[in-house]
Amino acid sequence: MSRIRITSIHDVPEGTGREVLLGRIPIVVWNVAGRFHATTARCPHEDAPLCNGSLDGTVVTCPMHGWRFDVTTGQGVMPPDRLLRVYPVHVEGESIYIDTA
Ligand code: FES
Repeated sequence: MSRIRITSIHDVPEGTGREVLLGRIPIVVWNVAGRFHATTARCPHEDAPLCNGSLDGTVVTCPMHGWRFDVTTGQGVMPPDRLLRVYPVHVEGESIYIDTA
């Protein structure tokens, strides 16, 4: 397993998501009430950038057609049978890391 630094905690204000690269893979780091989570960057419906959606609590609403996902688990809220991939986040000091297999 390796740990990759992807951004600083200061670059992801509370209640927002920021798209970053994990190697060449775009992901979104979310700040939910001071806790950080990471998911796939694109909506599984038609590929919209989820970082442009609105985050309400743990749920992001896609900016294109309104699908909703819990960013802490990846679970679809609407529709419930869709998932976002989630990535394990580790915060150390002011840096945010993703643990990769
Ligand atoms: S692209 Fe996200 S709901 Fe359609």
